[in-house]
Amino acid sequence: MKKVIKNGTIVTASDTYFGDILIEDGVIVMIGVDLDAQNAEIVDASGCYVFPGGIDPHTHLDMPFGGTVTADDFESGTIAAAFGGTTTIIDFCLTSKDAPLSKAVEAWHAKSKGKAVIDYGFHLMIGEVNDDVLFELPQMIEEEGITSLKVFMAYKNVFQADDGTLFKTLQLAKEHGALVMVHAENGDVIAYLIEKALSEGQTEPIYHALTRPPVLEGEATGRAAALTELADSQLYVVHVTCAEAVWKIEEARKKGLRVYGETCPQYLMLDQSSLAKPGFEGAKYVWSPPLREKWNQDVLWNALWSGSLQTVGSDQCSFNFNGQKDLGLGDFSKIPNGGPTIEDRFSILYSEGVHKGRLSLHQFVDVIATSSAKLFGLFPQKGTIAIGSDADIVIFDPHCKRTISAETHHMKVDYNAFEGLEITGEPVSVLVRGEFIVRDKQFVGQPGSGQYLQRKRFNQPEKLPVKEQTMGGA
Ligand code: URP
Ligand code: ZN
Ligand code: ZN
Ligand code: ZN
Repeated sequence: MKKVIKNGTIVTASDTYFGDILIEDGVIVMIGVDLDAQNAEIVDASGCYVFPGGIDPHTHLDMPFGGTVTADDFESGTIAAAFGGTTTIIDFCLTSKDAPLSKAVEAWHAKSKGKAVIDYGFHLMIGEVNDDVLFELPQMIEEEGITSLKVFMAYKNVFQADDGTLFKTLQLAKEHGALVMVHAENGDVIAYLIEKALSEGQTEPIYHALTRPPVLEGEATGRAAALTELADSQLYVVHVTCAEAVWKIEEARKKGLRVYGETCPQYLMLDQSSLAKPGFEGAKYVWSPPLREKWNQDVLWNALWSGSLQTVGSDQCSFNFNGQKDLGLGDFSKIPNGGPTIEDRFSILYSEGVHKGRLSLHQFVDVIATSSAKLFGLFPQKGTIAIGSDADIVIFDPHCKRTISAETHHMKVDYNAFEGLEITGEPVSVLVRGEFIVRDKQFVGQPGSGQYLQRKRFNQPEKLPVKEQTMGGA
């Protein structure tokens, strides 16, 4: 059935206006004033913003890591995402050196199919560039539409790849039109610092932060940017936490390099002191790279404002405090890294960004949706409100206040790192391809209704719409 969203204030990365949106067969077919709503269901958005659905470019659902598996899978994780205003995620497909890439992708399809309630794509981890990878990769890009490749510069003896692998991946990405993503930390030096700390009896969660100093994130970011320059390729630095890394990205961008960066709500809101909380509570705040000294938060907000960083991902990677994080009791290096953030990413960015005057409404939409759509080959199908785009829409009440808590969140995990944070603004209803999945704050979606997204190549030019081509062709 057709739907018309009426009386809302439509906001995109470039415009704000009052108007109606007509939706048919899952896409936006008309935008205008006082649209004829005959034969259409009327959805009233009075007093609300109408945003494009959030795109979370960085999630880990149903992922084995640190001797356990994330608490949220594609069902609970995408339901939580939907409540929070996110309608598309791109999840990291882990690969292993001794199995074909296609096996890993199959495994990720098996985890997500029949479960996801929002649309999803995959990034592909590259651990080694061997003959098999050289053979398979073009297929993954062409046929699976996986147009972003992830290289870990840290997690020695687990995921870490060497610089040669990173460089070869950058060259392949240039050749085939993919975007290379890096987890930028110097894994070798970190491994040494961890060993040294443990041998000196330093086992508490705070040593997680102290053995991964910001200079090692800055160093790896600069190294990845240098290799990108040499390969004339493109780089996206995930979860940027600190000034040292922001400066390296800025330096690269000033040279005109295609280097992009993402930060996460946890780095904008939380700081290193949380890791020192007594009674092992610090384990709740163990991410890699770690939370930093508080002053870095201003650097990150300013980088979003100035455009040095383009996106905010959640890096959703949830582990229960009881039964998972406690694997690291007595040895901080065994605390599973990551936290639950998929649900609150959108609202925190609105509340702390727009409501507190750190971002404009347009910058908010850009970092929460539009930039990711553009960088990851989904624009303009996703990431905006425009004729022809998927009707992925968030009806958002900017006045409503709530307090973030594990007692009310929808993630399947026993704590929330933002517990007690009071925020302003909340999604009221959320549509994916024209269908409600959250309506008046109630979940009404169906597991399995989310679709797999084959993404376009990096910077692939848009085809002109057919009508315009004939008009301009004379
Ligand atoms: O601590 C984190 N970030 N866990 C998830 C894996 C990664 O490095 O992105
Ligand atoms: Zn990472
Ligand atoms: Zn991650
Ligand atoms: Zn209101």
